[in-house]
Amino acid sequence: MGNRLERVFEPVQIGSLRLKNRFVMAPMGTNYGDNRGMVTSRQVAYYAERARNGVGMVTIEVTCISNTGRATTYQLGAYHDDFIPGLAKLAGAIKKHDCRCSLQLHHAGRRANPLLNQGAIPVAPSPIPALGARFPEN
Ligand SMILES: Cc1cc2nc3c(=O)[nH]c(=O)nc-3n(C[C@H](O)[C@H](O)[C@H](O)COP(=O)(O)O)c2cc1C
Repeated sequence: MGNRLERVFEPVQIGSLRLKNRFVMAPMGTNYGDNRGMVTSRQVAYYAERARNGVGMVTIEVTCISNTGRATTYQLGAYHDDFIPGLAKLAGAIKKHDCRCSLQLHHAGRRANPLLNQGAIPVAPSPIPALGARFPEN
């Protein structure tokens, strides 16, 4: 019987997407975005380094899809065209190493921080407050 892990090193085709191997980096928030949710050069360098080390696909960290859903100050955003250049640069830096990327879409729902969302009331399936989510009044 062969090594059961051998296939992890083999390419895989997922629809039109081909990965050079089956290692996928899980999403991990870096807090390297800026306070508007834009990609920073530090973040590009971080992901490029992960890609350079041979993983087949990187999952870019928890990224907010609405200006009512941000959870943390340095969380990446993808809810306006202004985010595109930074995200494209990030994807390009990853692809340069024959690595592919996906991106984790996220909305914090009742855990959204109003202080980071222009004071917008959090959008959630019910009005029940999130346990432990306490933000200053002002
Ligand atoms: C610093 C840190 C940040 C993380 N950020 C995210 C994230 O943005 N999205 C997510 O779904 N999981 C996140 N996770 C969870 C990891 O992706 C992973 O699923 C978790 O660490 C369990 O994997 P393990 O059993 O190999 O440790 C994070 C974990 C760590 C340690």
